Order: sequence, then C-alpha cells, then structure tokens
Amino acid sequence: SEILRVGIAGLGTVGAAVARLLHRQAEALTARTGRRIVVTGVSARYQAKKRDADFSGAEFFADPVKLAASESIDLFVELIGGSEGPARASVETALAHGKSVVTANKALLAAHGLHLTQLAEEKRVALSFEASVAGGIPIVKTLREGLAGNSIERVYGILNGTCNYILSRMEREQLSFEECLTEAQRLGYAEADPTFDIGGFDTAHKLAILTSLAFGARISPESIDIEGIERVSLADIEAADELGFRIKLLGVAQRTADGIEQRVHPTMVSKNSAIAQVMGVLNAVTIDADAIHELTLVGPGAGGDATASAVVADIADIAKGVRSAPFGLPSGQLTELKRTPMRRHEGG
Ligand code: HSE
Repeated sequence: SEILRVGIAGLGTVGAAVARLLHRQAEALTARTGRRIVVTGVSARYQAKKRDADFSGAEFFADPVKLAASESIDLFVELIGGSEGPARASVETALAHGKSVVTANKALLAAHGLHLTQLAEEKRVALSFEASVAGGIPIVKTLREGLAGNSIERVYGILNGTCNYILSRMEREQLSFEECLTEAQRLGYAEADPTFDIGGFDTAHKLAILTSLAFGARISPESIDIEGIERVSLADIEAADELGFRIKLLGVAQRTADGIEQRVHPTMVSKNSAIAQVMGVLNAVTIDADAIHELTLVGPGAGGDATASAVVADIADIAKGVRSAPFGLPSGQLTELKRTPMRRHEGG
C-alpha cells in the first residue's frame, strides 16, 4: 500500500504517545485507511532526550520549520504548543508547502484559526484539530460529521479538567480552593501557568473552536465573556448543594436573536443533569440540536494517550483523503458572532 509520510514536531508526552499508537495500531490503520502510516521525520528541542517511543527510524530536524518544509513528509503534526513562535511558523510553512496539518494546539487555533483555515483552503489541504478540544473526546468529528443533519441550538461543556478536578475535590473533601489548586499542580493537571486554567482562558480557547464547528462561525476568543473559578468558595458550593445544584465551570455557546453568544463562567447545574455527574479530571460536552434533542459526551480531556487518540484519528482521516472544511462552512460564509468585551479578572 502507498505510504503516508508523517513528520512530528514536538516529542513530549503526546508526541511519544502518537508514535506508540501508530506503531501499536499499524495493521489496523492500514486496513482502515488503505495506506501505511510511517513517521519519517521528527523535530524537538533536544535530540538526545530519553523518550517513551522509538524515533530512531525518523530523520531528526533541529528546526521544526525545516521539517514542515521538507520533501520527505506528506503530513505535518504540530505538537509544539503556543500561539506564536515555532508552532505558528511551522504550521504556516507546512500549509504553504501544500502539506496537510494535524495540530493539538488550541491557543494557535484560537489566535490564528481563520488565517490558517484560509491558507489550508487555498492549498486544498487538510487542517485538522480533533485533539485541540476536550482531548480524547471525538467532539470535532461529532459536531462536523456526526451531527451534519442537525441544526445546533447550543453547545456547552466542561472543557478544563483542572477546574473540574478542583471544584469536584472542594465539594467532596470540603477543602478550600487554594488547597485543591495546589494538589492539581502537584498532580501535573494544571498548565504551567495555572491562571490559564483557573481564569477560564483555556476553556475559552476550546469553546471558540467548538463555536466555529457548531455554528460555522469565526474562531474568536476575544468575543467571549470570561469568568474563572478563582472566586468560587466552599460556601458557594455548599449553598448550591442544598438547592440541588453543583457548580461547574462551563463554556457555553448558543444561538440568540443577536447572533451566537459565547461565555465562560462558573454555573449552577442541576444534580440530575448529565453534566453534573462528571467529577474529577474529565471533560464533557453537551449538544442541544433539533434532531437528536440532547447528546452528552464524557471522557478524558487531557493526557498523552487520550490526546494521541485524537491526533491519530486525524492522521487516519487524512490518510483516507478526507479534507473537511475546518469550520463546517467555507471561510467566506461565516455566521455572525455576538460581541462581548472580554472581562479580565483580578487575583488570578
Ligand atoms: N490544562 C488543561 C486541562 C489540559 O486541565 O484540561 C488540556 O488542555
């Protein structure tokens, strides 16, 4: 079978897990896609570092941009992270060279999604980002393909595992916000800068991507009203509990008379709802749509193998020749968003 030559930039936890899954599922992936998927090039900051995967068969590039431009790959997988610098430069280079791109980078998409989409459209290549939202939950595919026969009214979810871990633990163990945040950091759940998680910004980036898929809108995190969980107290959680509610940090996008509204804030959810059952470091997304009524997906929002599962699904689609419009609509026909100035909160 014809070979699909993959280049991976960024060999951290997710990069190593992608290589392991591609190896472990090699036969099944060839049966499913008709192609042999081979990692032919890699890039990382340190070549010599010990990793949980064998990259000895792949050519090493110190510069990810060189890997992105290399004749030796057909598909570029960006796992570097960050909205600028080498992540942005290498993705732009790969697209400009007519190579499809798979990325897990929510910050990059949130900042430059429209521009990157237009580049991919011009070159008629794929730009796939299943791993950028809710880790292992196949929410991009669900919204884009699975619910293609629906009109979506609302999409909302728990999109940050760290926040859900903190809120769950405050409730269960009667602990303060600070104690739970320290524990989340010790366990390695929180991002390097925890403000990004607890301030709601990570949720906002992911919500912006979901909004684009659900409503055919521009990815626009600056039009999201954001409040994080820093000011949720144990007393708030106990008061909600007495009324039959739980507090969750939700990202919500819905149709309104003035366009698509997007917001991120701590929300009281009924203990009877599907989303209220989701405790600990998990993600969940609920979709309200006309034909299916309501659908909730729950699963791991982070972690090497779960995130790699989504990256490999994108690679498999590209191996099959699938090239979806990233927004579900051509970038020239986007739905209006309702604009709300971003609120910045003190004390993050
Ligand atoms: N820090 C993120 C979370 C990781 O807690 O969900 C995945 O983006």
